[in-house]
Amino acid sequence: MASPVLSNMPHHVAIVMDGNGRWAGKRFLPRIAGHKQGVTALRRCVKACVARGIGVLTVFAFSSENWNRPAEEVSGLMDLLARAVTSEVAELKQNGVQLHFVGDRHRLSAAMQLAFSEAEASTSLNAGLVLNICFNYGGRWDIAQAAQKVADSGQPITELALDRALALAHVPDPDLLIRTGGELRISNFLLWQAAYAELHFTDKLWPEFDDAALDDAIAVFRSRERRFGQTSAQLSNDSEALAPDLAGQPKKVA
Ligand code: IPE
Ligand code: IPE
Ligand code: MG
Repeated sequence: MASPVLSNMPHHVAIVMDGNGRWAGKRFLPRIAGHKQGVTALRRCVKACVARGIGVLTVFAFSSENWNRPAEEVSGLMDLLARAVTSEVAELKQNGVQLHFVGDRHRLSAAMQLAFSEAEASTSLNAGLVLNICFNYGGRWDIAQAAQKVADSGQPITELALDRALALAHVPDPDLLIRTGGELRISNFLLWQAAYAELHFTDKLWPEFDDAALDDAIAVFRSRERRFGQTSAQLSNDSEALAPDLAGQPKKVA
């Protein structure tokens, strides 16, 4: 489908996909049934982003803290992801999606690490939507690992050096950050990168998040005035806000 010609669309959308457990609980199903439905919702959301010409979609699939859940749920989530990686890659390739897994891989099984690398390699030449799946990810982990990399390189620890060492250095910062499931918190997602993201919270549980819900979030985003520290009057004069640019040059917002 052709991209709609709309100005002021978010280039990078990030989502905390929350509410799978409650979706299942409402139906007297085991929590893992909610996570399965969550995979279906993600497939639908990826297609919707492709259809709307969104450049980057970053989703929170498993946090550094989610290891603290019951062992049965953790192993169910690992199995679900392992199966989804293998079964979804062909369709992602067809849709031109470039896949990245973002997070600390050390704690994952060797088989899972291999599956991640293979899926990334087989989609690396795709030029469509960049899909970042944050798995065993935490914003604090990311900042700490970036600081360690910069320190190891002997460079001074500047914002630019840290930014380039972060796990999402291959994409610009998110414009719109959505959290489903009704909680009003960040839960250790994109702590650095969300500095100027527009936040959108919805009560919809992740398995219920459909194209209309995405369109609502985009409409809310498009109605916001992003000022990046400037005043409203400055924006009406210059008409375009200047996003902070770590390389030192102000950059125009798309
Ligand atoms: C989000 O849904 C998915 C993961 C954290 C893996 P939850 O499992 O947190 O669902 P709720 O919040 O308990 O409903
Ligand atoms: C955040 O959801 C993590 C993911 C969606 C993967 P949680 O359900 O883990 O967050 P809290 O515990 O409610 O803050
Ligand atoms: Mg939750």
